[in-house]
Amino acid sequence: MGIFNRKKAAPAARPVPRHVAIVLDGNGRWAQKRGLPRTAGHAAGSENFRRIATYCRDIGMDYLTVYAFSTENWKRSAEEVSAIMGLLKKYLLEALEKMERDHIRLQFFGDLHRLPQELQDLAARTWETSQRYTGFQANICLNYGGRDEIVRAARAFAARCAAGEARPEELTEAGFSDLLYSRGIPDPDLIIRPSGELRLSNFLLWQAAYSEFYFTDVLWPDFTPRDLERAIADFNGRSRRFGGV
Ligand code: IPE
Ligand code: IPE
Ligand code: MG
Repeated sequence: MGIFNRKKAAPAARPVPRHVAIVLDGNGRWAQKRGLPRTAGHAAGSENFRRIATYCRDIGMDYLTVYAFSTENWKRSAEEVSAIMGLLKKYLLEALEKMERDHIRLQFFGDLHRLPQELQDLAARTWETSQRYTGFQANICLNYGGRDEIVRAARAFAARCAAGEARPEELTEAGFSDLLYSRGIPDPDLIIRPSGELRLSNFLLWQAAYSEFYFTDVLWPDFTPRDLERAIADFNGRSRRFGGV
């Protein structure tokens, strides 16, 4: 698109959901369609995360949670996994450098211990720096699995019971939520999955209890702010009943 075609962004669909979650899927197919290696798709997907996160901040969303690497994604080739880790490192270094300007706070959901040490350190620094700011927050799910998250929470509670610090009958849904990576963060209002797949793939299993879902065939690197606006407009047309009438 030439500079003469550049249009001002369409006004945001209102109201803006407080928390949107997106499965960043379709990078591989995006690359394949162009005869490029899958890693080129991950690079394009990472750039697109920057664009969409900025857009979410600008329209006044509070939280954007993205699924970037699942507990199952280790099944991929060592080459692909290391390319993804390299892109994450690049993204975090840039995010750290620009956080003061961009005001995009970052938090991580997942077991980071399995990531390269350098990435763990960067994630810790990014999170620390984020705490100095308020406002829009992006949560990046890395080595994240919804079942893994729930099992860890169950273990943590069992350990407290074994230590005599808690009793099983005292556990509530709110108390359990506080043991998850997402503690303190409202459940996602809207979960978007691009790339045509109609499944959750182990994303936010607990938190998705009353989320609205939006699926689109658009591949993640091609997913634009317009696509997000469409999803939000669709979301705004729905009636959320939470079990009521
Ligand atoms: C999502 O894109 C990125 C990760 C899972 C890390 P994919 O790599 O799954 O892309 P497709 O599904 O093969 O197109
Ligand atoms: C889900 O996508 C995980 C991420 C986007 C990080 P996958 O591509 O791994 O999911 P499946 O294999 O199609 O279910
Ligand atoms: Mg995929």
